[in-house]
Amino acid sequence: MSIDLTTEYLGLTLPSPIMASSSPVTGDLDRLVAAVEAGAGAVVLPSIFEEEVEAEEMAHHAGLEFGSGVFGEAADGYLPEPVGYEPSIDRQLSHLAAAVDAVDVPVIGSLNGVSDGGWIRYATKLVDAGAAAIELNLYRMPADAHETGAAVEEGYLSLVEAVRAAVDVPLAVKIGPWFSSLPSMARRFSEAGADGLVLFNRFYQPDLDLLTLGVAPNLVLSDPSEARQVMRWIAVLHPLFKGSLAATSGVHGWEDATKLLLAGADVMMMASALLRRGPGHVKHVADGMVAWLEERGYDSVDQARGSVSHANAADPSGYERANYIRTLHSWSS
Ligand SMILES: Cc1cc2nc3c(=O)[nH]c(=O)nc-3n(C[C@H](O)[C@H](O)[C@H](O)COP(=O)(O)O)c2cc1C
Repeated sequence: MSIDLTTEYLGLTLPSPIMASSSPVTGDLDRLVAAVEAGAGAVVLPSIFEEEVEAEEMAHHAGLEFGSGVFGEAADGYLPEPVGYEPSIDRQLSHLAAAVDAVDVPVIGSLNGVSDGGWIRYATKLVDAGAAAIELNLYRMPADAHETGAAVEEGYLSLVEAVRAAVDVPLAVKIGPWFSSLPSMARRFSEAGADGLVLFNRFYQPDLDLLTLGVAPNLVLSDPSEARQVMRWIAVLHPLFKGSLAATSGVHGWEDATKLLLAGADVMMMASALLRRGPGHVKHVADGMVAWLEERGYDSVDQARGSVSHANAADPSGYERANYIRTLHSWSS
C-alpha cells in the first residue's frame, strides 16, 4: 500500500505536503527545480522587499541624473541608460515566470512591503508574472511607546484586506508568534481575506560587535527544537481556523514533518534544512514520513492530518498551560 500525499493548500491541489519555503534555494532556478524533482509539492520564492526595490530605483535615477539641468548640453543628465541593466524587481519577476515554466507545482510569490501602495503594487506584479498564490511576509518592529498592540494588529488586518481586494489569487499570511491571542488574530486574518497562515517566520535578531560597537546582522539557521512552538500553535488552531495552516521553522527531518502533520499542518515548509543539505533532502523527509504512515496503517496524509491536534489528542493538556508546570517538574539533574 502506498500513501496518498495529495494535499489541499490555499485551495490549490499539491502532489505533496512538503514544500520549499522562501529562501535562496527557491531563488535559484536549478535548486528550485531540484527541490520539486525531489518531491516538493509547491515552492515559495524569496520575498520582494519594497524598500530594497525603491532604494535601488532611487540610486539608479540619482546616478543617471547627476548634473542634469546644470548645463544646457546635459538637460537629461550626462549618462545614458546602461545597456543590459535589469532592476532587481524585473529579475525577481523573470525568475518567477521562469519557475512557473520549469515546474508543474504551484509557484507562490512572496512580498514584504512598507507602504500600503507598495504591498498592492508588488502583489499585482507577482500575479501578473504567474504566481499561483501570494504569501505576505508581515514584519513590523514597533519601536514607538505610544503605538498600541491593537493599532499594530489593525494595520496588519487592513493591509490584508487591501491586498485581498487587489488580487484574485489565494493569499497566505506569514507571521511571527508574538500576538497576545493568536487564535483571535488568526480568526481576524481569515475574516480580512487570508486563505491561510504560515506559522512562524523567524526574524533574525541583531548582534552587537564589541570591537566596533556596531549592530550587525547575524544569520543563524534554525534547528529542529524550533518546530515545537509551531507544532503547539498548529495543534491549537487546527480545529479553530477555517483556512490552511502551513508550518515553517525547524522542519529538518521526517520526524519534524510527521509531527506537524499529526498536529494539523496542511503543509510543512523547509528552508534551513535545504540550505544545509541541498534541495534533494525533500525526498528524504517525504520518504521517512511515508514509511512511518505506512507502518501505522494510514492511507493518506489527509487521514493523518490533525489526528493529534488539540481537539483530538488523548491528553490535550499537553498543549496547554499545564504542560509548562509539568515540563519544569520533569527536570532531573
Ligand atoms: C537565508 C534565508 C533567507 C530567507 N528569505 C526569506 C524571504 O525572503 N521571505 C520570507 O518570508 N522568509 C524568508 N526566509 C525564512 C524561511 O522561509 C523560513 O520561514 C524560516 O527560515 C524558518 O524555516 P526553517 O527552519 O526551515 O529555516 C529565509 C530564510 C533563510 C535562512
